[in-house]
This record gives sequence, structure tokens and C-alpha cells, in this order.
Amino acid sequence: MGWIYRNCFRSLLFLQESEAAHNRVLKGLSLASKIPMLPTIADGLYGAPNLPVEIAGMRFTNPVGLAAGMDKSAAAVPMWERLGFGFAELGGVTRHAQSGNDAPRMFRAVADRALVNRMGFNNPGADTFARALSEWHARDDWPSHPIGINLGKSKITPLEEAAEDYTFTFRALQELADFFVVNISSPNTPNLRKLQNKSALDEILKTLRAVNSEKPLLIKVAPDLTTEAIDDVLDLSASHSLAGIVATNTTITRPETDDAQCEKIYIETGGLSGAPLRQRSTEVIAHIFKHTEGKLPIIGVGGIFSADDAWEKITAGASLVQVYTGLIYNGPSIAGDIVRGLKARMEKEGVRQFADLIGKS
Ligand SMILES: Cc1cc2nc3c(=O)[nH]c(=O)nc-3n(C[C@H](O)[C@H](O)[C@H](O)COP(=O)(O)O)c2cc1C
Repeated sequence: MGWIYRNCFRSLLFLQESEAAHNRVLKGLSLASKIPMLPTIADGLYGAPNLPVEIAGMRFTNPVGLAAGMDKSAAAVPMWERLGFGFAELGGVTRHAQSGNDAPRMFRAVADRALVNRMGFNNPGADTFARALSEWHARDDWPSHPIGINLGKSKITPLEEAAEDYTFTFRALQELADFFVVNISSPNTPNLRKLQNKSALDEILKTLRAVNSEKPLLIKVAPDLTTEAIDDVLDLSASHSLAGIVATNTTITRPETDDAQCEKIYIETGGLSGAPLRQRSTEVIAHIFKHTEGKLPIIGVGGIFSADDAWEKITAGASLVQVYTGLIYNGPSIAGDIVRGLKARMEKEGVRQFADLIGKS
């Protein structure tokens, strides 16, 4: 199935401007979710075998999830499971609805299998997002896998009021999802990444904790943090009993490239994702795993296209992985392909349980 996408559909999609193609696909998935039989057909074509994992009291049928940013308005909630994902992180959602930065704001660097984006948290806002989730619940179309929500800060909210902004969104959505990711690492909201600073983050986590009785909270970090800054985040995660870390968001750095089209794209402002991010994101995961002695669950994300890429993240310490750019380049069979590949490699290398793989390297 992956071959057909890469050699037929992808060429058609890549003829279109990136964001326009993205919006068309999301609209198609949203419609398909509501047409009887289509979700079942998608499941037959793209579903993944079981490879169960349990983290923070949540059960995942497989460890491959959809990364934040793909479904920013909860448009296709039931479909991600049908495409083989073991969980989906929706959003980023902010308290206030916002249109994001001016277009164009998403660019493909095709030869390097990368994207640059400066979307700027375009999303319908917490209240509308809550209504969209409630509608899926009411339709009886809620997926059986865990749903996470990525919490962002509204652009109009000053940094000093960030804690209340995150908390508003959390309160609006807390009954509607299984876990929440505090995103203080997007490069596309002015000054957001300053919230990775210890005292600012402490304030946000304190305020969130005061209103959160039970939902697992995680933090998503940037790959551009120094080791010391990552350790500060880890100290806070321990003192606030967080459920885990998502590593990593996109990077503001740019790789060397020989390709003229990629070179042109890398001049664009924004966060880089995809293959060039893979190694740095794995290094961050390995550092977190070592520093926390494997006690804090990690969701590994950044440059995963294949089972071998996922294997690298998991053996570095990730308990779960996510994909975004890989889905754009490899198509809808990516989650199933990764899960099947992980199972085959586990069998070949004599790894009996998935848990034995985490941090093995
Ligand atoms: C267009 C686009 C939008 C994104 N939006 C968000 C977002 O709203 N919140 C977030 O935490 N990460 C966001 N991300 C980052 C991804 O979730 C992921 O961390 C990053 O792309 C690295 O994974 P990948 O190499 O598999 O794409 C976005 C990425 C892209 C490409």
C-alpha cells in the first residue's frame, strides 16, 4: 500500500501547495469518518496488528501515534485508529481561536524528506474544539485508543498570563480526552519557548496541577534546548509528578544540504521536521532516559519514517513514538508498516516483550 501512495497519490498531492493538500486530505478523512463502511474499509487496508503498551495507567494497542499539529480542529478523530495508529495527539489548541501566521506557512523540502512550517497555532479555540470532541462522543464514534490534546498558548496572551491561558484550555477539555501535553516548545508563537525556563514552567505546572485531579500531563520539549535546560525541565517534571515528556518538537536549526530546492526552503522561517531532525531528537530521548534512569515515560517524535527509525527511538528510551512528516511522505500505511516492522524485528532479535525494548540501547 505504501508503494502505491509513494508512486501515485503522493505525486498528485505534491503538485498542490502543502497546506492546501493537507486541508483537502483532512476534509476527506473527516467526511470518510461519517460514511458507513468507509472506516471499516480503511481499517482493513491500513489497520495495524496489536503490540500493546501500558503507560501512566493508559493502554495503547500499539506504540505508534499521530503527532500534534496534524488534526488541529478534531476534524477526523475516529479515522486515526482506522489508519493503524495506537493513539492520537490532537491540537495544538489555544484558549482563543486564532488564524495563525500568514500563508504560505508550510513548505516541503522533498529531497531531504523534511518540512518547514510556521503555522502559528491556527486552531478554532478551546470552546469550539470542546464542542467538536463532544460531537464525536455523541455520535458514538469515539476511538478505542487514548486521545491526547496538545495545549498551546494564545498569541494575544502575554507570557506573564500564560499559566491562566493554558489552564483555561485544559479546563475546557479535561473531561474529553485521556492525556494532555503542555506545549512550550513551538518555534512559531513569539517567545513561547521562553516558557521552557524553570520559573515560568514551574508557574504553569503549579496552576495546571491545582485544577487537574486525574489526567496524565506531559511536557513537549524543543530539540534546541541545551542539556542543562532539558535537565531543568526534568527536575520540574519530577517535582510536579508529570506523566512523561514528549521529545521533540521541530527545530529552528537547518541541516547541510546539496539540494537546491531544499536550500531554498531552509531559508524560510519556521520549525524543521522530518528526516534531518531524527538524530537530534533521538539524542534528546537518550539523554532524558539516562537522566531519569528510565523512570519517566518518553514519547519519541522526530524524523520517524520506518520501523528501524522507531526502533532507534524506542531502544534509546521512548515508550511510545509519533509521526507527522513521515505520514506526509510515506502515506496512510505508515503506522501499520511500523508496527509490523517492529514485531518482525523483535522476533528476529529474540525480544519477547515490547517493554524489554524500551531503552535497550
Ligand atoms: C505543519 C506542522 C504543524 C505542527 N503543529 C504542532 C502543534 O500544534 N503542536 C506541537 O506540539 N507540535 C506541532 N508540530 C510538531 C510535530 O508534532 C512533531 O513534533 C514534529 O513535526 C517532529 O516530528 P516529525 O519529524 O515526525 O514531523 C507540527 C509539525 C508540523 C510539520
